[in-house]
Amino acid sequence: MKFFIDTANLEDIKDAQDMGILDGVTTNPSLMAKEGITGIDNIMKHYVAICNIVDGDVSAEVISTDFEGMVKEGEALAELHEQIVVKLPMIKDGIKACKYFSDRGIKTNVTLVFSPGQALLAAKAGATYVSPFIGRLDDISTDGLNLVAEIRHIYDNYAFETQILAASVRHTMHVIDCAKLGADVMTGPLSSITGLLRHPLTDSGLEKFLADYKKGN
Ligand code: E4P
Repeated sequence: MKFFIDTANLEDIKDAQDMGILDGVTTNPSLMAKEGITGIDNIMKHYVAICNIVDGDVSAEVISTDFEGMVKEGEALAELHEQIVVKLPMIKDGIKACKYFSDRGIKTNVTLVFSPGQALLAAKAGATYVSPFIGRLDDISTDGLNLVAEIRHIYDNYAFETQILAASVRHTMHVIDCAKLGADVMTGPLSSITGLLRHPLTDSGLEKFLADYKKGN
């Protein structure tokens, strides 16, 4: 399973990249705003800065909601860097734009996916990635992981090549469950990745090994 980090924070991206386990980055307008990145020029520069840190796909989201606007924005984003993936909302014009970009060999990520039917449409439109938001479903008492399982089942039935990018991952158990279900990618905050490092038996075991080494040296 590929590990993407879901942030526009350059320090967190560097941290995950330095561990050697990072495969890409996802961003969205809210994550950009959280870092205080505003104005189209700054946002574009920030995407390039992210691409220069990570070796892998970087999702950059369009703001337009009409086909022509999405095409114009998506083309400008794709021209910024070869690692850019055009992130499109799961609406009718988003699907149309997804088909437009996939026909031209430009990578896409269909975002805000909350049902198997939406994921089926994204795959039919040739999306590179489909992003089911598991945390946001859990937030409204609906099993987000079950959506990942349903999409996996449907995509496997027809050998769709669209990669399931489990998004809105909030914690380590989401990461582990996504891996069990066969998600192709997960994207979450740095804490959902570094949390995987932790085990008290690792810490106490290491402490004992080092103490025993000191006794003999
Ligand atoms: C996905 O690409 C989104 O940026 C993201 O995963 C949303 O996560 P949230 O529900 O934690 O905001």
